Amino acid sequence: AIKGEMLYEGKAKKVYVTDQADLYIVEYKDDATAFNGEKKGQITGKGQLNNAISTIFMEMLNERGIPTHFVEKLNDREQLVKKVEIVLLEVVVRNVAAGSLAKRLGMEEGTILPKTVVEFYYKNDDLGDPLINDSHIDVLELATPEVVKQMEVYGRQINDILVEFMKQRNVILVDFKLEFGITPAGELILADEISPDTCRFWDADTKEKLDKDRFRRDMGGVEEAYQEMLRRLGGVELV
Ligand code: C5P
Repeated sequence: AIKGEMLYEGKAKKVYVTDQADLYIVEYKDDATAFNGEKKGQITGKGQLNNAISTIFMEMLNERGIPTHFVEKLNDREQLVKKVEIVLLEVVVRNVAAGSLAKRLGMEEGTILPKTVVEFYYKNDDLGDPLINDSHIDVLELATPEVVKQMEVYGRQINDILVEFMKQRNVILVDFKLEFGITPAGELILADEISPDTCRFWDADTKEKLDKDRFRRDMGGVEEAYQEMLRRLGGVELV
């Protein structure tokens, strides 16, 4: 596919149309933001690292029968993906209390949740991506009840696959965020990325953070953490 005009620029990625009507090219940037864009920065090499890491996860999910937008990695920073219309809902799946859940429910970070928690957030920068429930989704007409249910089912299936996969690499999958899209043919598929930008990964022994919380909390060693995640996933190390 030949790269055409830029369609959209987000905080961490750019999306381009191609000469094929049903395919887009996604370009991963080094820009990092947190707290709804209030904190801005750059993480050297993040674009290449997240492109490589997300490719590994998406290929694995495709193989396990989860439909995703991923077609192929084109180069260091770019992926070919299927064209979708993004559903304006972020699905967050949690195994361990951390971040906003720990705060909202007054739980200590690191508390193992007795059951997996699935949440929906309204993807809306102006509102700061608020947590919403089924009736809010219904009122805002963000998705049909069937689509919402299927997003939760996929979220739980993806969690089962990723928890096991990360366990074998001595990593605890604390929580993660997914986005879905609808293809022109009307199929609901996983979109966006799965990377240390969108997941919390803790070393299983030391509980060391190997994800974007190092950037959010000014802990340092951000690039090294992403590099370490790629290494554990068996990816080729990037310099
Ligand atoms: O901040 P919070 O605890 O709600 O985040 C839950 C999970 O979702 C974390 O892994 C975080 O990286 C991810 N997330 C994201 N994009 C957002 C909000 C959260 O990737 N806009």
